[in-house]
Parts: sequence; structure tokens; C-alpha cells
Amino acid sequence: MSANNDSIQKTILVAVLLCLVCSVIVSGAAVSLKPMQVKNKLEDKRKNILAAAGLLQEDKSIEEQFKQVTTRIVNLESGDYATDTELAELKAAGYPVETFDQRRLSKDGTYSASLPGNIDIASIKRLEKYAAVFLVEKDGAVDRIILPVHGYGLWSTLYGFVALQSDAETIAGLGFYAHGETPGLGGEVDNPSWKALWMGKKVHDASGAVAINVVKGKVVPGNNKEINQVDGLSGATLTSNGVSNLMRFWLGEQGFAGYLKTLKGQGV
Ligand SMILES: Cc1cc2nc3c(=O)[nH]c(=O)nc-3n(C[C@H](O)[C@H](O)[C@H](O)COP(=O)(O)O)c2cc1C
Repeated sequence: MSANNDSIQKTILVAVLLCLVCSVIVSGAAVSLKPMQVKNKLEDKRKNILAAAGLLQEDKSIEEQFKQVTTRIVNLESGDYATDTELAELKAAGYPVETFDQRRLSKDGTYSASLPGNIDIASIKRLEKYAAVFLVEKDGAVDRIILPVHGYGLWSTLYGFVALQSDAETIAGLGFYAHGETPGLGGEVDNPSWKALWMGKKVHDASGAVAINVVKGKVVPGNNKEINQVDGLSGATLTSNGVSNLMRFWLGEQGFAGYLKTLKGQGV
């Protein structure tokens, strides 16, 4: 006597059981791999911070190299480091210094506010109250100041870091770790030759205004704004403008201007 294995009930039962088993496997894998994902994400961020500052050494572990970096949380409104009370509050809300997630903070209504269009030159829509900055010390003094930046290009929001020298004025490096610009066009923001053009450029002009700028085409040698200018990406003026805008936003009054003033006041 043989059972009818082709019945609709049995087919449905097998399909349901298969779905159940698969979902248990997938969710089990997601849960068990979560700590590894978090660790890899943190390591990748640290790698990008080191790379922007020109400190990345491929033959050493990121953990080891990151020991030279101190993470500080800055209150963007006051331009000062967050107080112990603010840090404790942030930690309790799920934003500890070590794994400070500024992207998540920018979507958190408690710690961010929407930006009026007329000042939102980087098209980021919301501005967080706190930002994590990264300091590298040498011989007991600040040698590199690495600031997170983000803003809209042509197709996407570009996320990256800009490193300043100890004068809090001269650019020591730049790098984007996430964007969706077109490879070969806007994607050339990742080109090492283009990123090298930023080194030595100054954030402000002689009047003290934020003047760093990506021009269309090539920088004219000897022009009186050369120290603030970087060549545009060929065939990608819109992404280039986006980079200009995000740099000017984050180095300007809404971003780190207050903090950089504080640093300069402390004589870094
Ligand atoms: C498929 C496609 C992808 C493009 N991707 C980009 C891009 O990522 N960034 C960008 O600025 N322009 C991109 N462009 C070109 C822009 O539409 C625009 O023409 C360009 O930014 C103008 O720059 P130019 O004045 O230097 O030529 C793309 C165009 C096409 C057709």
C-alpha cells in the first residue's frame, strides 16, 4: 500500500516546512554573524580614517595602527568637546564614543534637526548635534585632525573624511568610503591622483572665509586663489560641485568652524 505523496496537502506541508527550516537557518546566520559584521564595519571605518590622514600601513593590523588615534565627540553648536554629562547621555542613548554612529545620530530626532534649504548647501537635509572627530598626536601635540564629512554629489550622498594638519587649516588628506557616483566619472573621487591634489590646500582665504573649492577644469597656476583650489573631475562637474559644497558646509559655520576656531584658540 503506497501513500499519495502528490496530494496538495503534502505539497503545501513540505513547502511550509522547507520555508521554516530555511528561515531558521537564515535568521540564525544573521544573528550569529552580527558581531562579526559590527567588528568589520568598525575596522573598515578606522581604515578609512587612517587612509584619509595618510597614515595607513597595509602590513600592520588596523587595531594596532588605530591606537595612535583618539576619538573625541564635538558639540557642533558650541564648537567644544562634549562634556562628561553629554557623553554619558549619548552613551545611555546608544551612542558610545568607541562606536559612535554619526549617520544614525543624524536620523535621530532627539539629536538632530532638519536643515533649512538656504543653508543646506551639501543637501544633507538633517544636521546632527554631535560629531566624532579623530586626533593623532605626535610628541605630545596634535598632528592630524580628521573630520567626518558628507554631502550629495550627482546620484548619491558621499561619506568621507578630511584630514587637516596641526594648524587646523592645511589639508593633509581626503577620502570617501561610501558613495554611488558613476565609476570613471564622479567615481573618480576615489582616484589617488585626484585625492593627492588636496594635500597642502588651505581651507580659508586671506579674509578668513571658507574658500576651499573644486574648480571646473584645471586650476590656473599662479592665480590668487590657487591655494584654495583643486582641479575638477573631468566629465563630472556635478559630483565635483557636490564635493565643493560638502567641504564648504562641514568646514563652515554649520559644521566644524566653531570647533576649528576652538582648536586654533588653543594654539594647535
Ligand atoms: C550614465 C551617466 C552617468 C554620469 N555620471 C556622472 C557622475 O557620477 N558625476 C557627474 O558629475 N556627472 C556624471 N554624468 C555627467 C553629468 O550628467 C554631466 O554631464 C556632467 O556632470 C557635466 O560635467 P562636465 O561639464 O565636466 O562635462 C553622467 C552622465 C551619464 C550619461
